[in-house]
Amino acid sequence: MSEIRASDSDPLAAAEAAPAAHIPAVSVIAAFPELVEQACRVGVTGRALERGLWRFQGFSLRDFATDARKTIDGRPAGGGPGMVLMPAPLRAATAAARAWHGGQTKVILLSPDGERLDQKLVEKLATEPHTTWVAGRYEGLDQRWIDECVDMTVSIGDYVISGGELAAAVAIDAMVRLLPGALGDSESAVTESFSGQLLDWPQYALTNAAGNADIPPVLLGGNHALINRWRRERALEKTALRRPDLLQSAQLSKADRDYLSKLAL
Ligand code: ADE
Repeated sequence: MSEIRASDSDPLAAAEAAPAAHIPAVSVIAAFPELVEQACRVGVTGRALERGLWRFQGFSLRDFATDARKTIDGRPAGGGPGMVLMPAPLRAATAAARAWHGGQTKVILLSPDGERLDQKLVEKLATEPHTTWVAGRYEGLDQRWIDECVDMTVSIGDYVISGGELAAAVAIDAMVRLLPGALGDSESAVTESFSGQLLDWPQYALTNAAGNADIPPVLLGGNHALINRWRRERALEKTALRRPDLLQSAQLSKADRDYLSKLAL
């Protein structure tokens, strides 16, 4: 069985393919798990998957529908617009996911009313050996299933997207890039700069002499102390302008504070 699959409707077969305990295992339950799968197959997450740094399994809700028409949603009790995902396919898909994980998994529902995803939460989730991400669709999910199965609810921000699949892809990407070995050295520096709670400094790509002409000269001068100071000041400036709230908790040196006090913002 290939490890990355949009659906696996046979819980027993899935249990046999349960991932080894030490490799983080991520599953997704959704109406359109292939959306998450496609996002996971490219770039950093795709490379990490190929190298066996994590495992992925999608579960398509339709595979767990109990009628011939493969119905997964029903009209809301009490009336109103839209459709609600029914509990039976959700329960069966959750059982299949649990089996694939070898019995235990943290079930995380993606919804705009969840805990806001930030780098701190991503870091915490990246330490979980087993996570199952459930993407909502339509007007919502049956509350009985939420009460029974969901361990936590996560939102990727205060806006509404059409379904949780893209939200799951965002959360999984942020998590996987933190797994040891997922990023090359050059990429990991970028993560550190956000973990250090300042926004990033601007970057310029070296091309040829003519193309480099309007790059800030300090970056071409080879003095690394000066380059580091220039970058730090640009990061401080950008953070002060765009996200002054981050400065409250950032670790700042005396030189940083002196620089900030001189900024006329
Ligand atoms: N589904 C729809 N909007 C969402 C959001 N902002 N975060 C997580 N899941 C969602």
